[in-house]
Amino acid sequence: MNKKVLVLSASPRKGGNSDTLCDQFMMGNREAEHETEKIFLRNKKINYCTGCGNCFNGEKSCPQKDDMTEILEKIISADVIVMATPVYFYTMCAQMKTLIDRTCARYSEIRNKEFYFVLTAADNNKRAMDRTLEEFRGFTLCLSGAKEKGIIYGTGAWNIGDIKGSQAMKQAYEMGKNI
Ligand SMILES: Cc1cc2nc3c(=O)[nH]c(=O)nc-3n(C[C@H](O)[C@H](O)[C@H](O)COP(=O)(O)O)c2cc1C
Repeated sequence: MNKKVLVLSASPRKGGNSDTLCDQFMMGNREAEHETEKIFLRNKKINYCTGCGNCFNGEKSCPQKDDMTEILEKIISADVIVMATPVYFYTMCAQMKTLIDRTCARYSEIRNKEFYFVLTAADNNKRAMDRTLEEFRGFTLCLSGAKEKGIIYGTGAWNIGDIKGSQAMKQAYEMGKNI
């Protein structure tokens, strides 16, 4: 079955390591004839959730008018969601956390999705990514029917391009092909 894949690439670095792994994953998607689209958060305007309560006190819609409206539509209509972040101070980057918080108004509609996580860090030990992974799991725990399907550990990558030639590149491609 052909799936609809949405890749959320959060690195502020254009052509950075996690973004490169996203592209590999997407190459695999295309090879297997899945529909795939990437949103590079750096190019989008996504304000912080203000905790105003409009969405959880009955009014329902978020009063903020920015790119999150369109992004949420895409998240809700995807079958597969790939979330990619660099590890910053052993946690996810702010762009990804901001996006997650802004799902507040419609997170109950994000149902039955398959999730893949892509992480990059300078650290060589994949255990160094555990906390960041747990942050993603904090999000998926709040969603109905979310299934965690795969994790790409892009370890040992500091500078742009360090990830090239790594095992993670192959893994991302293969994982993307076998969703
Ligand atoms: C603000 C900042 C904080 C970082 N913190 C960590 C860290 O805690 N542990 C680590 O291993 N690498 C850390 N790094 C390195 C990045 O995770 C690494 O450069 C990664 O490849 C960035 O991914 P990207 O190219 O997709 O942006 C940090 C980099 C920056 C800019």
